[in-house]
Amino acid sequence: MSLAPERWKANWDDIAAMTRIADDAGIEFILPVAKWRGYQGKANVYGKSFETLTHGAALAAITRRIAIFSTVHVALVTPAFCAKAIATIDHISHGRAGLNIVCGWNQPEFDLHGLTIDPDTRYDHGQEWFDVWAKLLEGGPEFDWDGRFFKLKRLQTDPLPIQRPRPPAMSAGFSPRGRDFAARCADVLFLNVTELDQVPAILADVKTQMDRYHRTISVYTMGHVVCRPTRQEAEDYFHYFAEEMADSAGQQYYRGHRGATVPAEGEIRIARPFENRFTRQGRFRYDGAYPGVYPFVGTPDDIATEMAAMSATGLAGCTVAFVDYLKEIPYFVQEVLPRLERLGLRLPVGA
Ligand SMILES: Cc1cc2nc3c(=O)[nH]c(=O)nc-3n(C[C@H](O)[C@H](O)[C@H](O)COP(=O)(O)O)c2cc1C
Repeated sequence: MSLAPERWKANWDDIAAMTRIADDAGIEFILPVAKWRGYQGKANVYGKSFETLTHGAALAAITRRIAIFSTVHVALVTPAFCAKAIATIDHISHGRAGLNIVCGWNQPEFDLHGLTIDPDTRYDHGQEWFDVWAKLLEGGPEFDWDGRFFKLKRLQTDPLPIQRPRPPAMSAGFSPRGRDFAARCADVLFLNVTELDQVPAILADVKTQMDRYHRTISVYTMGHVVCRPTRQEAEDYFHYFAEEMADSAGQQYYRGHRGATVPAEGEIRIARPFENRFTRQGRFRYDGAYPGVYPFVGTPDDIATEMAAMSATGLAGCTVAFVDYLKEIPYFVQEVLPRLERLGLRLPVGA
């Protein structure tokens, strides 16, 4: 969330080129967020963004091994539509589609669809949506659905997806209902982690939720990477884009609207859920990267060491974001991934 002029422009050709690099490097998945309105401010982050099912289908056709998640707001798409769309991407990609299921938090995004988010029932609705979606993709005889939110007749979909019983689903919820939803439905739960020493408590809490459903799901988090040959260069760049060029108005918009849907006391206990704590040499920096995203800032050795520390907490994975993906990913791929392999955190590409 920076005004730095080199910030990501979300141009299609850049996305395609970036995804090809990630694909060749063996990065496991690409996760585009679905947005219908930007975060205002001066940068209007996400103001320009592609629809992610069509985006996923296109990426499926130009990649070989990376998994391709599409983000779907359940209020906007029927389960039968999404079942067919995800099956389509699964066929184009020969079994690499995934769903990021989102129940919604930002009312202005729904205003342009004429819909109102009901904070009390959004996850109940999402639950029923998911049950229909999953049952459709599992196949079997036609069925009717007579639920609280959906009354549907003669449900079936053809083709079924290649991944059986269905492609993986991820969900990101911080509220107790959000985590309960993920524990019951998802294969992967994304949480914001701003400090590694909080992770054991967070994972213990998630385990309680999973135990209720006798399920085990992986917990992932999100990271932002600034990797440079020297620490000084990395820290200077982080300072530049995340502090000097911070889009404070956009950050305020995000914090305000997130807070509106999810009261802070309802969230999992994270000390500073909206911050980016970067503490080397006692310096704390809070503003410019995406709130709640973990900053990896330093040399390739620093980044690999910190990722190993994150892995040791029990987190199963992490997204990596960059200010300018095309410029920054090649160095990350060249320098950090082999270090992670040597540390036993990754297998070599193709293995
Ligand atoms: C990795 C990740 C990806 C997300 N993607 C989207 C998205 O594309 N669109 C969206 O509206 N919300 C997205 N969210 C927000 C979540 O779906 C969810 O609404 C938010 O984390 C708040 O959860 P809660 O309402 O249960 O507290 C994402 C969150 C995370 C952590």
